[in-house]
Amino acid sequence: MSDRLHTLSGYLYEYQKSIAQPEEFWARIADSFHWRKRWDKVLKWNFEGPDVKWFVNAKLNITENIFERHLYTIGDRPAIVWEPNEPGEATRTLTYRELFREVCRFANALKSKGIQKGDRVIIYMPMVPEAAIAMLACARIGAIHSVVFAGFSSSSLADRIIDCEAKAVLTSDGNFRGNKKIGIKSVVDEALEKSSVETVIVYRRTGQETEMKSGRDFWWHQVLEGQSDVCPAEEMDSEDMLFILYTSGSTGKPKGVVHTTGGYMVYTKYSFDNVFQYSAGDVYWCTADIGWITGHSYIVYGPLLAGATTLMFEGVPTYPGPGRFWEVIEKHKVNIFYTAPTAIRALQAFGTDPIQGCDLSSLKVLGSVGEPINEEAWHWYHTHIGKGKCPIVDTWWQTETGGIMVSPLAGITPTKPAYATLPLPGIQLCIVDAEGNELTGNSVEGNLCIKFPWPSMIRTTYGDHERCKQTYFSTYQNMYFTGDGVKRDHDGYYRILGRVDDVINVSGHRMGTAEVENAINEHPKVIESAVVGYPHEVKGQGIYAFVICDMTNRTEDNLINEIKDMVSKIIGPIAKPDKIQIVPGLPKTRSGKIMRRILRKVAEGQLDSMGDTSTLLDPDVVEKIVEGRK
Ligand code: PRX
Repeated sequence: MSDRLHTLSGYLYEYQKSIAQPEEFWARIADSFHWRKRWDKVLKWNFEGPDVKWFVNAKLNITENIFERHLYTIGDRPAIVWEPNEPGEATRTLTYRELFREVCRFANALKSKGIQKGDRVIIYMPMVPEAAIAMLACARIGAIHSVVFAGFSSSSLADRIIDCEAKAVLTSDGNFRGNKKIGIKSVVDEALEKSSVETVIVYRRTGQETEMKSGRDFWWHQVLEGQSDVCPAEEMDSEDMLFILYTSGSTGKPKGVVHTTGGYMVYTKYSFDNVFQYSAGDVYWCTADIGWITGHSYIVYGPLLAGATTLMFEGVPTYPGPGRFWEVIEKHKVNIFYTAPTAIRALQAFGTDPIQGCDLSSLKVLGSVGEPINEEAWHWYHTHIGKGKCPIVDTWWQTETGGIMVSPLAGITPTKPAYATLPLPGIQLCIVDAEGNELTGNSVEGNLCIKFPWPSMIRTTYGDHERCKQTYFSTYQNMYFTGDGVKRDHDGYYRILGRVDDVINVSGHRMGTAEVENAINEHPKVIESAVVGYPHEVKGQGIYAFVICDMTNRTEDNLINEIKDMVSKIIGPIAKPDKIQIVPGLPKTRSGKIMRRILRKVAEGQLDSMGDTSTLLDPDVVEKIVEGRK
């Protein structure tokens, strides 16, 4: 394969080339794909707009690059292997040929319901192959999918449906998660109360009783009846939208990150191939949910574009026991395993007993994603799962970057615990100080920016381009600002230090503090609240909420429980605060701004390094908060 890197010197050479001549570099990578019409120009860009176009005027369909390009060579190779929640239930395997057939049939079903190129389709589904089929069927006909994590509440789902003006929702009756059976269609029904969605297609997974609204709701198996397995791919412009994925930022409302077709395709395949060093026949397993970007780029698009076998897991790491991940690795002879530090830490807590007796000898490469991996978890992963012989690729990237930006290349880049190491070819990182001055040389620490476009970068935030500009391209001139702090050490290796904005990372899930505060403030007894993150042994960061309440006729305990339920209901259980402290006031400056720095110190328990509190409106409030600390 021409675009595969094999050695460290090869990587360094390609990296230099990708910086010196980016257009030539990416044209060469893109040449190995199938384009219906080649581009007129590789790249047109400015970061003021921002206005970024890759493979200008090229025409293609991403699914032709997954299916038609592979069928003659690897049509019988497993594309998706599905492991259900219940270990006793049968595994499902879909070869490339079978998956193609299902995608075409479902694409025709969507067309029969009037879904066309450019329409937005919400996918709110469990981890079943049909979720991937739904995404690819949308891509086949040029509809824009927006997958919403099935753990989000009806009101979060409703916000997303309304924001993108979705025409259809694809969902299931329910979801098996560990020993629970969770209703999903009922959540959709609640979300749809205020929307104009015309069509809902429901996949039968749990068989639970499900209300169907006549004329709007259809069973998946019924819409498939009689559908042809031939569906010509819609011709897409390289810059046509492929999908929208909502993510949290420092302001209250999640934003719809927009990814387009050509650049996303080229970059996800290129990064998948090179980071994981996938070889033909390998079984690759990424434990993410398709509701997150990791699921989009590295369960569905990247691996399938590369002709890989990608394993999809419906369940949770601890069901029926804490050895489930390791049993699945043994059962499917997984070669490449990609998970999140929070899962590693959670399983580490059970010791090594659940690993004993599992044959993990198929493993060649381990991956980590979603949050900084602490050194202890890194060593545990390396020693007990990788048996000291598997390189760990600690991959740093974001919903907005579309693909992996900084990571070792498996077996090629020497690793260092807790370091994402070096940028991929084409990625021009830049560390800046608070004023935006670039910090050159090694042994520096600052904010992480990117100063040149890459093919899978965010193009806009859906329906609000100004917001995209303000959030990512205005903090520092002519640079994309990631929101992360970073250190470049004496070897030139990068270590991500975590968010520097009002975003917290709970178990690898991004959460805006303002978003959680807004949900807390919905409680009628809440007067004001402030949310910060604090170090949490398993989750990486926990959510700590300081809340001013009207306590009339209430006890502290029942109020705290009610507030937690309120957040669960409004956002979803993943946003439920770990600690809620009822406080008499919040530390504010004379201009009324909450000093979160102080609250963070309280939450972290660093009470002797609170800094200067003399500029506060009411310095005594800090003492009272410290006294009541949880
Ligand atoms: O803070 C960084 C952290 O996760 C953020 C992006 O979150 P999201 O868009 O949900 O995407 C997660 C999966 C790509 C980043 O701004 N993050 C992600 N990967 C790492 C990480 N922090 C440290 N090391 C990583 N490997």
